[in-house]
This record gives sequence, structure tokens and C-alpha cells, in this order.
Amino acid sequence: MPQNKVVIIDYGSQVTQLIARRVREAGVYSEIHSCAAAVEQVAAAEPAALILSGGPASVGESDAPALDPGLLALNVPVLGICYGMQLLAENLGGKLAKSSTREYGPADLSLTSQCALWDGIDGPTRVWMSHGDKVLSPPPGFTVTGRTAALGIAAMADEERKMYAVQFHPEVHHSAAGQTMLRNFLFKAAGLVPDWNMASFVERAVREMKERIGGKHVVCALSGGIDSTVVAVLLHRAIGKNLHCIFVDNGLLRSGEADEVADCLRAHFDLNLTVVQAEERFLSRLKNVEDPERKRKIIGHAFIEIFDEEAKKLPLADFLAQGTLYPDVIESISHKGPSAVIKSHHNVGGLPEKMRLKLVEPLRELFKDEVRKVAEELGLPDFIVWRHPFPGPGLAIRVLGEVTRERLDILRRADSIVQQELRESGWYRKVWQGFAVLLPLRTVGVMGDGRTYEHVVALRIVDSVDAMTADWSRIPPDVIARISARIINEVNGVNRVVYDVSSKPPSTIEWE
Ligand code: XMP
Repeated sequence: MPQNKVVIIDYGSQVTQLIARRVREAGVYSEIHSCAAAVEQVAAAEPAALILSGGPASVGESDAPALDPGLLALNVPVLGICYGMQLLAENLGGKLAKSSTREYGPADLSLTSQCALWDGIDGPTRVWMSHGDKVLSPPPGFTVTGRTAALGIAAMADEERKMYAVQFHPEVHHSAAGQTMLRNFLFKAAGLVPDWNMASFVERAVREMKERIGGKHVVCALSGGIDSTVVAVLLHRAIGKNLHCIFVDNGLLRSGEADEVADCLRAHFDLNLTVVQAEERFLSRLKNVEDPERKRKIIGHAFIEIFDEEAKKLPLADFLAQGTLYPDVIESISHKGPSAVIKSHHNVGGLPEKMRLKLVEPLRELFKDEVRKVAEELGLPDFIVWRHPFPGPGLAIRVLGEVTRERLDILRRADSIVQQELRESGWYRKVWQGFAVLLPLRTVGVMGDGRTYEHVVALRIVDSVDAMTADWSRIPPDVIARISARIINEVNGVNRVVYDVSSKPPSTIEWE
């Protein structure tokens, strides 16, 4: 673990994850702890500084989360943001003013007195506000360090105790000098040293796994996506041939995908890899099934069954490797609790319980963009580093209605045109995800002199940063035109292509 760790206490703000990312971008490792976590848990993390996040509550209301005084007794530099500022004020003897209205949007911050946070910043500077209540008088020992037209106390600090507070959100891009302020907090106020980068991460992860696993064996399910591939390559560095990777070819993959992934991993990394051909098993179970949730469940169960059979052939295995990422971890610890299940996502969860394997999750600390950096650090080829996310149930949830080999083949041909054209036009790297969907209906068309009555393919191409929200990509019409013309000309059985112009929410990225 890096020496310079910042713990962010989450009071339920929508942008707490952003604080964590900004701190990491500054080269300091950060993790988020729920405001409901015990002080002992935070202390055990040995933070070198604390950041108190914003939150939707109003300090002092019956179920509003409180600031545990034990956190301040840790005696490390503290930055309170928005609700975090109000908590500091309330706890240290300042006064708050309740408000029934919210100030939301940009404001110009005047820097009214010197503060480590303002180093190198000229006021007034544009900041982003989103708050109801405000601080009316600062606690003893604090100086007012900034104000706006609407707020007499927009920032305050007690340099002696290294406590800082801002009413606005420095973590959002709209706060022009926000990243400088955060860096000033980390480096000028708290005196931290940036020691979080992907090279040091790789070195530490490999060392820790080596120590933990020793001479034991590990099984790892490879999906061909970046997360499980990075997990496998890291583990391979740590334990070499004691790693056993299993890749299930379920017949629901994109054209050429199974070979591409297996060849790459064998050629570049000399991995111990078993490819299980299971197309027949998956397709026979999906026969006559149209309901999306049933498809997902059937595929999930078949996968676990196969994985179980394969792992039994490896009696020496004590560990199961998984590509769990940090957002999955915080999702379950967040103040707000786990978000509602919209679709049952198929991951290998549930396996270890059944198989009594211990978990190895080397990516638990990372955000998706950091996994990409690790992948580059490990020398993975671009086509894996920049591969679009692909759902566990594969093309089964993109063939709407019944999944048959014939319909999968039509979709595969259409989809590979989408992939090729996105790559050739330079749009592949600019969008989050782009793919084809085969609709369960046919429409009339005319080809040559004849009437046709054939399938419809929908193009789904979206922009997103984390798949939680997404918008349809504004791809140039000529690129869409080329994709459409090629699909209709080259894929037998398709006579119409449509472009999906829905955002998430209320739609989802996948159609099923
Ligand atoms: P939705 O459709 O929920 O998708 O907006 C969000 C992101 O998750 C991917 N996705 C899945 N990934 N197993 C996965 O591993 C699944 O069952 C699954 N379903 C959707 C989807 O491709 C998008 O990136």
C-alpha cells in the first residue's frame, strides 16, 4: 500500500467517486469509506489525510449522517467539501443557517485571505455550488478564506490544525481551479508525496499476490475482456504456471473472438490456458427461450457448471481470481447502499462459496481507466486495452427473441461490419461501446426487381464514462451510412438498419 493514502468519508454525494479519482490523478492513493463505518476501520486504513464529502442531507436533521469526532482525533489534515464543511462547522463550534432553497450552479469565488489551498490561484475564480444550508459563523480558530456574492463564508480554514473547508465542489470540472485546490490540499497543506502510479501498482500487486498465494494454485475465468485478462497477466507474473485460466467458448461470442483472445494470450504471455468448447450446451439450453432474464440465468448457470467441472480437474487449486473493480466494491459499501438490480449481471459471483475457493481480486482498488493503464504497463496489445465492454451473456442478449445458431450468425456478420467501420473511421476509441442488435421482426424491402421480407438490425453506439449513464453517439452520418449500406449488401437476410437514439436512463445500453 502506498504511504500516502487519503480516506474519503462518503456522506452520500453523487460525486464522491469523483473526489477519489481526482486525488488519484494527483498521484495519491485514495479510498472511500462509508460515513457509517466505525472510526476504528478508518484508523486501520492509516490515512495520511481525510476528505469529508458532500451529501444530500441537512446537518442536524433526524437521520442526517453525523461527523464522528473520533475522525478528527486521528489528527490528520482534513478537507470538508460542501456537507463536509457544514459538519466541520457544526462540530467545532461554528453556526449554520438552514435554508429551504438550494444554490445550484456556477459562482465566482473571491479569495479573502491567504490559505494553503489557494497557492498559485488568482481570485476571483469560477467554482461550482450545490447546497442548501450554509455556514453563518466559523468555529473558533477558523478564518474565512473565500466568499461569493451569495455566501459570506464560501471557504474557511484553520491552518494551525490543518483543517480546511469549502462550500463548493472542487472535484467537478466546472470548478476552474478545483484540481489545483485539491493538489494544494494534498501537497502544500498535508505535505503528502505523490507515490501512486500504475508501475508501482503492478510491482506491489505482484509482490503481494506472490506472498499470499505462495506455492498454491489459482483458477481464473477469462472472458476476453480487459479486466479478466489483466488479472490473468498479473497473476501469471506472480505465480507463473501455477495459474490455470479457463476460457469458455459459449458460442455467443463475436466473430473470431475466441481464437483472437486465446492466440494472443498464448503467444504473448505463455499462459496455462484451457479453452472449453461449449457452444452446443449453451445453444441447446437456450432453445425456445425468449425472455431476457431467463436467457441470462440459463447462461449464468451453464457457465458456473462448466467452470465447476473444469476446476474439479484442478484439485490443487486453492484460489479463484476475479476481476472485481473498485466501483463494484464501493457500490456495496456506499452510504446509499447497493443500487437496484435492473438486470441480473452475470459475473462469477457465487462460485467461491460453492467451491470453497479463496478469492484473489488484484483490481479491487482500481477504476476502469486505471485498469487500462495497468494493461498498457503490462504490455497488453491495443486490441485488448481498448476493447469495448462485452456482456457476460454475449450475443444472446443482442439477438432479441429466440437465440439460434442461424440468427447468431446473421448478427455476427452485421456486428463485425460495425466493428470494422468504427475502427477504420477512427470512432472506435472515441465511443464507449458500439454494436449491432438483431431485432425479432421482419420488414418489407426491395432489392433488384424483387420484394424482400427480412430482418432488421439496430445499431447501438453510445458515449459514457462508466456505463451508469450513457448517451447515443453523434457519429457522422456518412459513417452510419457506410455501416448501413454494407450490412444490407453483405449480410444475407437483413434489409433494414436503424440507429438507436435513446439515452440511459431511461433506456439501458443493451436491449435485453
Ligand atoms: P446496461 O444494459 O445495464 O449495461 O445499460 C451497462 C454495461 O454493462 C454491460 N452489461 C453486462 N456486463 N454482464 C456483464 O459483464 C452482463 O450481464 C451485462 N449486461 C450488460 C453492457 O454491455 C454495458 O457496458
